[in-house]
Amino acid sequence: MKQQEKIIEMFNAIAPTYDKANRFMSFGIDISWRKEACSNILGKFINKDMKIADVACGTGDMMGLWDNMSKGYNTNISKLVGVDPSSGMLEVAMHKFPNFEFIQASATHTTLKDREFDALSITFGIRNIIERLEALKEFNRVLKNGGYFVALEFTKPKECGIAGKCRDFYIKKILPKIGGYISKNKEAYEYLPQSIDNFLDVKEFENELLECGFRIELTKGFNFDVTTLFIAKKIRDI
Ligand SMILES: C[S@@+](CC[C@H](N)C(=O)[O-])C[C@H]1O[C@@H](n2cnc3c(N)ncnc32)[C@H](O)[C@@H]1O
Repeated sequence: MKQQEKIIEMFNAIAPTYDKANRFMSFGIDISWRKEACSNILGKFINKDMKIADVACGTGDMMGLWDNMSKGYNTNISKLVGVDPSSGMLEVAMHKFPNFEFIQASATHTTLKDREFDALSITFGIRNIIERLEALKEFNRVLKNGGYFVALEFTKPKECGIAGKCRDFYIKKILPKIGGYISKNKEAYEYLPQSIDNFLDVKEFENELLECGFRIELTKGFNFDVTTLFIAKKIRDI
């Protein structure tokens, strides 16, 4: 089985316990990171219509937040679609959000229309995509000119004293144990620190976005840079 297929199989296996493990592992702090990502974009669409795609949507939490928070900004989301290749994750998402639209597809071939979306979010997903550059090109294709790419991702830890060491210890030693215990799938949660190590650092990811037709609007690290929020604007077709 190819690496990408193995990753998707792994998400199928942990889908039923994914939300519980997530909340435990982040102490619920991920919700504040997600909210900041949404509010940053919704603040640009006050009293306007917008279309949003959430790629690697998993169990749909980000879609729930887009939907909920848009009301506070008087933003009318005329289309909200979740894309994910994992049938297991989508099954949980559809159960939680029966009225939302979902597509089972990879980030590299979303099946979405050209230049349709005002924003495309991907939270804790980009690290799992083997053909990342192909996915970024696909995101460029489906976004309108001037549309926003929004990502939250665990970024490669920089060496930075005691705080950095504590963060590394938590990610490498504690997280796999909590996730493994809740999901009963140790291997899946050992993949987490490995995938963070294999992912790019902030600057490298910014460079890939520039290469794929985006201009960086914001990069912001949260909680000793465990997670980084990337917001980039599509400035040209590629
Ligand atoms: C860590 S989960 C994140 C889910 C959700 N976005 C969240 O914030 O909780 C990673 C997701 O990436 C999806 N994924 C893996 N490979 C993918 C690919 N090639 N294209 C799109 N999504 C992919 C998995 O199925 C999984 O749902």
